[in-house]
Amino acid sequence: MRLAVVGKGGAGKSVIAATLARTLARRGHRVLALDSDPLPGLTYSLGADPPAAESPLLAATERREDKRWHFVRGVGPARVVQRFSTPAPDGVRVLQLPKTTREGMAPVIGATQAFYKTIHGLNRVVSLREWVILGDLPAGPRQVAFEWAPYAEHFVLVVEPTWQSMLTSRRIARLVEEARPGTRVSLVVNKSTGPADEELVSGVLSLPVLQAVPVDEGVRSAELAGVALLDHAPDSAAVRAIERLADGLERGSVVS
Ligand SMILES: Nc1ncnc2c1ncn2[C@@H]1O[C@H](COP(=O)(O)OP(=O)(O)O)[C@@H](O)[C@H]1O
Ligand SMILES: [Mg+2]
Repeated sequence: MRLAVVGKGGAGKSVIAATLARTLARRGHRVLALDSDPLPGLTYSLGADPPAAESPLLAATERREDKRWHFVRGVGPARVVQRFSTPAPDGVRVLQLPKTTREGMAPVIGATQAFYKTIHGLNRVVSLREWVILGDLPAGPRQVAFEWAPYAEHFVLVVEPTWQSMLTSRRIARLVEEARPGTRVSLVVNKSTGPADEELVSGVLSLPVLQAVPVDEGVRSAELAGVALLDHAPDSAAVRAIERLADGLERGSVVS
């Protein structure tokens, strides 16, 4: 399974990606979660420790005489995952895009290059062939399809039943279709209040709904408590819905 979770900011990408990652890990999958958003939402939603102030990826690349960034000797995408990913609950491994520093992105260019080169090499890493790779993408539609999810064979589009979210999502779906014709795009309707919401979103996007996730107080209170949804409200309707999403994705990956 090679998934990219995409959608408008605030749609619920991070909480759904994180809960899905841990659910799949609990079912015995080895899971690599990619936090591709400069705002570290996924890491928090997983209940993992906050990212280190200095990205471990800084050690993975060097700038050579050609003025370009290269992996240091002995390091490639497989090593980066092995050495520089960090642990999250349930055995999930996380690779984190470096966060903007007070001095901007300049001090972390090398680490950003390491992340970028790694995600572009993931599909060639033999030792990861059986892994679930799951990326939480930044909100903007443009970078999504082209540069930041090269590993993805399935885009999970998280949509709220609001016009803003639906229209942004429709653009994302079209960009994916243009850039990567034939790539699977599935809808997750989040913060749903019922079947009417699902019908509305499905109609506007002309895509079938893979799963609806209800609006759920547990999600908000988990966030307020600073605890992962799966730990804070394991019996909530939102968690049950994300478990059904995992069912659907597991079935889909077997069929294809
Ligand atoms: N099913 C839900 N029910 C209630 N609140 C939700 C639900 N899903 C997400 N939220 C809330 O929506 C906000 C955005 O979620 P987040 O996962 O950070 O979105 P994104 O990563 O797409 O920006 C958070 O405050 C989160 O608690
Ligand atoms: Mg997020």
